[in-house]
Amino acid sequence: MTLKNYNENELIESARNAMSKAHAPYSGIRVGASLASATGRIFQGCNIENSSYGLTICAERVAIGCAIASGEREFIAMAIMNSTDGIFTPCGACRQVMSEFAPDLKLILVSSDGKIERTDMAKIFPHPFRLG
Ligand code: THU
Repeated sequence: MTLKNYNENELIESARNAMSKAHAPYSGIRVGASLASATGRIFQGCNIENSSYGLTICAERVAIGCAIASGEREFIAMAIMNSTDGIFTPCGACRQVMSEFAPDLKLILVSSDGKIERTDMAKIFPHPFRLG
């Protein structure tokens, strides 16, 4: 499949929009993720917390699930924004899930005050678990 390019500003604005939909009454920290597929579509995810705290789902995994359930399988970049002044990198569980679908995914990490860091999955998760 020919990879469509993605527009970084558009992806960041989409992550900001996703962040506004977070359900985060327990931590008060909102996170939004925006995933660009190889077909040129964008899928959003936000953190969804639960009163049984361990059932909380991170924004990154919600975005992946949304895209997979829509029939997409190839991804090129994800923007992740959070409501604090610090940069968030994906947690370990999200890294494992993201890596299975997109081992070379580009990552654009954004804080609420506009700091931006660019990295990729291969750098932050070089030795994923794989079956077989
Ligand atoms: N969270 C995410 O959604 N993504 C991350 O990369 C790190 C943490 C969420 C989980 C929880 O709802 C809140 O942020 C604070 O940990």
